[in-house]
Order: sequence, then C-alpha cells, then structure tokens
Amino acid sequence: MNENKGIMFDEAFVAELKEQFYMPDDDPKYGERLFFDNSGGSLRLKKAVEIKADLERYPDCPERDHARGLDLKAYVQNGTKEILDIMFNAKSGALMSELTASQCMFHIVDLIMDNVKGTNAVVSVLEHPSAFDAMQYHCEKHGLELRVAQANKETGRIDPEEVARLVDKDTCLVSIMSASNISGSVMDMEGIVKAARAIKPDIYIISDAVQHAPHMVMDVDALGLDAMNFAPYKFFSVRGCGFAYVSDRVANMPHHKIIAKEQKVFELGTPSPGNFAAMMAVIDYVCSIGKKFIESEDRKTLYYEGMRRIHLQERALLYRLLEGTEEVPGLRHIKGVEISADPDSVEGRDLIAGIRIEGMDVVELGQEYQKRGITTAPRAATSIYSKRIVEALGADKGLVRVSPMHCHGAADIDKFLKVTQEIAAK
Ligand SMILES: Cc1ncc(COP(=O)(O)O)c(C=O)c1O
Repeated sequence: MNENKGIMFDEAFVAELKEQFYMPDDDPKYGERLFFDNSGGSLRLKKAVEIKADLERYPDCPERDHARGLDLKAYVQNGTKEILDIMFNAKSGALMSELTASQCMFHIVDLIMDNVKGTNAVVSVLEHPSAFDAMQYHCEKHGLELRVAQANKETGRIDPEEVARLVDKDTCLVSIMSASNISGSVMDMEGIVKAARAIKPDIYIISDAVQHAPHMVMDVDALGLDAMNFAPYKFFSVRGCGFAYVSDRVANMPHHKIIAKEQKVFELGTPSPGNFAAMMAVIDYVCSIGKKFIESEDRKTLYYEGMRRIHLQERALLYRLLEGTEEVPGLRHIKGVEISADPDSVEGRDLIAGIRIEGMDVVELGQEYQKRGITTAPRAATSIYSKRIVEALGADKGLVRVSPMHCHGAADIDKFLKVTQEIAAK
C-alpha cells in the first residue's frame, strides 16, 4: 500500500464519521456551509459536548464519597490517566489543566525559568503568540536573552541545525511548536531534541502541540520532552480548558498548589469532570476509527491505529487539495493561486494550506469564500496573531488558511477547488 499520498476513507465511512459531529455541512442560522477553519476550533464531536453538558447538571462535589461524588471524581481520575497514558504516551510526569492551552504554556515557562539556571532561552519565529509571548514575557522577567530560531521558508519548518545554532551551555529552555498552525508543517521534533541535547544534554525542551494534536499521536516519552500542551476545542471537544503534560523534573519543582496535596497535583480548586469526560469521548471516537481497521481490545492500540488512519485520510485529502483530479484542478494548478511553504511531498504535514490569490487582499478572499458558503481563516499580515509568522514564511501579504478535517471527503475538497477556481477567474 502506498501511504505517501495517504489513504482515503470510503464515502460511506466519511458519512458515518460526519454524522458524529455537530453541523458539519451547515450553520442552523446561516445555512449551508463548508467548515474549513478547523485549525481555529474544530467541528465538535456530539458525544463530547453531550457528556460535558450532562455532567454539568450535577451539583455534587467530586471530593465527596457518596456514589455521585465518586462517579464525578472517577471522570477526573480516569481522564487524567487516559490523557497522560493514551494521548501523550507519558510513562511518568503529571497533567496540568487550566482554562486554556495558553495558560498552561505561560505557567510552565515561568516554572522552568524560575527553577533552571541559564542566561538565554530559544524559541521559534513560527510560534503562536501563546508560546512566543510566554517566552518573551518570562525572559524579560528573569533577565534572559531570547534567541529566535528562523524558519526554512521552503518547508515551513524550523531546521534542527537552526536550533543548534542558538543553543549553548547556558540555554535554560527551548520551546518549539510540534506543527505550524499557519502552514501545517510538522516539525522534526526528534531532530530538534537531538540537536539541542548534543550541546546541553540536560536541557529543558517543551513543545506547543495545540495545532498538531488532532492530526498525529503525541509521544512525550519517545521525544523526552519536559512539557507539551493541547487545546480540547481544537481536538473535536469543548472550550474552557487546556491540558499539558509536564515531566517529573518539572512536576517536582515548587509550584502553586494546595499544600496538603501531592507534589504532582497542579489543580488549584475543583476541576470540571465534564472536561475530562469530553476528552475520554474523543479517545472513544478515535478508538472506534482504529477498530474499523484492526482487531484489538486494547484501547491504546486502537487509539494509535485511529490516529494513524486519521493522518492517512488527511494526507489523502491534502494531496487532492493540492493536485486535484482530472475533473477539477488542485490549488497548485489554478492560475493565480500561491501556496505558502509547499514542498513537493505531502508527508510531514497537517491538513492545512496557506494560500493567496494574486492581486487579491486576503481578507477580501476570505469574504469571497464566505459568500460562497465556505468558512476559512484569513491570516492578514496586519493581525497581531499572525504578522510575525506569515512574514517569517515569506507571505508578506498574509494568507488565507484552509483547514478541513478528517471527516471531510473528496466531494468537499472538490467543492472548495471549484469555488477557488471561480474566485481566481474573476
Ligand atoms: C499553535 C497554537 N498554540 C496555541 C494556541 C492557543 O490556544 P488556546 O486558545 O487554547 O490558549 C493556538 C490557538 O490558535 C494555536 O494555534
């Protein structure tokens, strides 16, 4: 089987998956639409939203030992275990939950800089402000020099050699995202970790996986990371929380906590059982995809196969989006369309395309798509969220980010391509 160009789910399976999400093809107020802004917040899994809403109905405190209290506590305990073991492949360490992934990131950077000696820290130019500003703010607070790794414009990645150029024995922390939320390029985290640890073997390395988490498995154990975060609302689930893994050596640092609780407990106050239950519903869903392809009763095995299949489906969709078919040209073949960071291969990429149409403002392009029932994300060069990043990728005029997800099918991609062809022809 040739996996280089991905493997597409059959149409019936796509329909079966779509059915499990709310409003995949329309907005109840504004009508039919294709939702191609999943990197800004993904389609919501019905089961995740339902269990969250269901559990919010109970007034019981999860610290009590009557049946309902214990049930609620079990969601927090089992959810913590599953997120750490199944989603992060963490063999040790602890789980942090905050209101957002950004809060986790700021908290972790502060904790490490408070406890680790050094004179500088390294971040990449492609980071979302959530990770970039966490580094800048805390470097200023701790009197550290902030070194910024530049992007390879061809691939949209941060090369390991670029990180190695900046790291030295006095580097306190390296923070590099797992994949770009603007170009979809997946970073060679293994190469980056190896390059940094070749210079300073015990260096602290963390990674923002908010973009990458819904597309491939996260593996903090294989990478030897000190922290990694993700946002449930970008992973088929709900808003209102962010999760992060932290390594043992980070969890053992003195941190804000209820003093009587164990060292590795980061929660301040009572966490919402619904947030954990919603993430377990996502794990169930990914396992159900795995089950379609392999025989196993082991939840982690099924989850890994499910994520692998999601990735292959998305790779096939990306290939179709870029190359098209005999009936409809792909983005690479529509006159006037420019694609940022588009190396030949579709491997090592999340399902994202950052595009422009020659002579057209990106905000206007986003509006043209919206008028035709397609929701995308214009990333203007003037936006506080994307200016530094689009410029680093060489897209000085900004771009429109197009991010379908695995439950979209070939027909959705073709519809998008036809609309693009129509707008470009104007
Ligand atoms: C790569 C990346 N990191 C971090 C964030 C921030 O996530 P949150 O809104 O949960 O703090 C985003 C949101 O767009 C993102 O794309």
